[in-house]
Amino acid sequence: MTTAMVIGTQWGDEGKGKIVDYLAAKADVVVRSQGGNNAGHTVVVDGQAFALRLLPSGIMYPGKSCVIGTGVVIDPKGLIAELDNFIAKGLDVSALEISDRAHVVLPYHVRIDEAEEQLKGAKKIGTTKNGIGPCYADKINRVGIRMIDFIHPDVFAEKLRENVERKNLLLEKLYNVEGFDYDAMLREYAAYAERLRPYVTDTNYSVHRYMAEGKSVLFEGAQATMLDLDHGTYPFVTSSHPIAGGACIGAGIGPHRMENIFGVVKAYSTRVGAGPFPTELLDETGDLLRNRAHEFGTVTGRPRRTGWLDAVGVKYAAMLNSLDYLAITRLDILDTLPVIRICKGYRYQGDELSQYTADLHVLEHVEPIYEDLPGWQEDISGIRHYDDLPENCRRYLETIADLVGVPLGIISVGPDREQTIVLKEVL
Ligand code: GDP
Ligand code: IMO
Ligand code: MG
Repeated sequence: MTTAMVIGTQWGDEGKGKIVDYLAAKADVVVRSQGGNNAGHTVVVDGQAFALRLLPSGIMYPGKSCVIGTGVVIDPKGLIAELDNFIAKGLDVSALEISDRAHVVLPYHVRIDEAEEQLKGAKKIGTTKNGIGPCYADKINRVGIRMIDFIHPDVFAEKLRENVERKNLLLEKLYNVEGFDYDAMLREYAAYAERLRPYVTDTNYSVHRYMAEGKSVLFEGAQATMLDLDHGTYPFVTSSHPIAGGACIGAGIGPHRMENIFGVVKAYSTRVGAGPFPTELLDETGDLLRNRAHEFGTVTGRPRRTGWLDAVGVKYAAMLNSLDYLAITRLDILDTLPVIRICKGYRYQGDELSQYTADLHVLEHVEPIYEDLPGWQEDISGIRHYDDLPENCRRYLETIADLVGVPLGIISVGPDREQTIVLKEVL
């Protein structure tokens, strides 16, 4: 039995889907353990792009078991739309398993998310407005509805009634927006429950059974370390735990079973939504990265904020996740640049900082200390062997690995499955 894990080290959209898809070729089981349809993972196979939100990226391969674990929050309508889309494309989704303990995202969660953002005004988080935070809040408040409740008609009817009553009070009296009609929601969602029922199972037991049978299991992270509820740039974070420890909780697996933890690092930085971003570029280089890489959110279509690679942040992620290897993505996007900068420290009020900090005021006002490296200024998208990469390109990669203190495992030079250079074979 071998396991591997793919974790985002920045603010999401590092290319986790692409790396998971590459590693999934050798895995027997792919498990999502946290987040919901706030995730948008793009996988490109033979030039055709597939967008995944809740489905594990292993669904691209026939015959792999794909598990949506306990720590995930599931929007049933969204998941059914995603399933239908994949079925229409001829993919086999019968090997999907959904945890009976996963919580259900309902329309009132989405409306609360929207209303809360509206109320926050200039202080909004910039959420994906998929109801993720309110659904996790209900789970923590112990009023949430789990998949097991959802597929038991009587239990669902009762829990939904209690929730709609309370949420309508909140929506109408606090947020001053329209509430929901219980009967209509029950009718609509009871039908979704019937549709999803065949996939619902106790995934805690099935994943452990797969491991006992010697199968290899790949854990697919969503979101990223800097969006972690505890360790990210709070409050500008998501409401789950995208770090490696979160996968243990969300999949119900003890830490010592977790091996081969890959931290995915985009070769520069992006962030969607609000919050500090020390290396952000608000100039034409930022525009160039955004346009060349088409950095617009897959979930919301929002333009992504862009900046240089922040090695201080990635080193923090390496520490929090016990990273074994780095998977560097989108390296080809830097092909045209004459000089590439990498942030190796911060300056704040005359002092040099080498650590990340919880103090958002400091993070918002630090001045990055950059190391400037010469660009390679040639097309690397067709290269498949590390030694064939231009010398300046290897120098950039090795500088990242040195600053972060984690060896290189995978290098991605394009979105397609084939555009991958592998330094460390696992699984
Ligand atoms: P995720 O959320 O971490 O899975 O990342 P997204 O899929 O949201 O965003 C990453 C984008 O970069 C997707 O459109 C991928 O197809 C694309 N991508 C991944 N790796 C590479 C790469 O090495 N080069 C280029 N040009 N695009 C890549
Ligand atoms: P993947 O898996 C990038 C961001 C949102 C917002 C904050 C909170 O594709 O990397 P939420 O809707 O989760 O309450 O929003 O988190 N965010 C992401 N940013 N990629 C993601 O997922 C994200 N999921 C959430 O933009 O700033
Ligand atoms: Mg994404």
